[in-house]
Amino acid sequence: MTKLTWLSHGSWLIESDGQRVLLDPFLGDNPAATMKPDDFDGISHILISHGHFDHVADAAAIANANGATIVAIFEIAQWFSANHDVKSTIGMNLGGTTSIPIGTVKMVPALHSSQLPDGSYGGEPAGFLLTIDETRVYFACDTALFSDMKLYAHGVDAAVLPIGDLFTMGIDDSVAATKMIEPKVVLPAHYNTWPPIQQDANDWAERIRNETGARPVVLDVGQSIEL
Ligand code: NI
Ligand code: MN
Repeated sequence: MTKLTWLSHGSWLIESDGQRVLLDPFLGDNPAATMKPDDFDGISHILISHGHFDHVADAAAIANANGATIVAIFEIAQWFSANHDVKSTIGMNLGGTTSIPIGTVKMVPALHSSQLPDGSYGGEPAGFLLTIDETRVYFACDTALFSDMKLYAHGVDAAVLPIGDLFTMGIDDSVAATKMIEPKVVLPAHYNTWPPIQQDANDWAERIRNETGARPVVLDVGQSIEL
């Protein structure tokens, strides 16, 4: 059983068999978050999709408090060890897969940008394809629509897509992405954190139901789905 908990924005807690992994934890300065960086224990790994502050903000603090390993593209992994004293990192790159206790993590492309908060080069932005037991979950992370999503993620059990628009794809393109990917379940992310990315997730869900074969699942902040 794989459990995904939406922590708001692009932040997720991924759990299976007692293993706990975070993706892009952004909690302290996030007006939509209900959990804070101190609320976590037993986190083994933290996946980071790209260098923007709303994805890297709390990763070092949580990694250092939990003794967790940060998994990120090579440049970002190096930045965490050099500048934030993170002891354990896995630096990887697009197309590569690494095995961690919860399952396998493949780093896949995303169409976005990736400068780190201090202006450092953050390499390329990424998404993640997780295989946990037999369950495949695609986190598109911050991205525009692009057709290669289909190559990496076609037929996944769950796809997590941004819908906030402005900084990522919006509702129209996330419906188009769902048509291409054909996931069993699709979940929205990266919206309602601040006014510029306000969206009506019920409108989105209605369109997913009417225009695709996927089942939309809209989580409240802090709510979970078991796959
Ligand atoms: Ni971003
Ligand atoms: Mn973002």
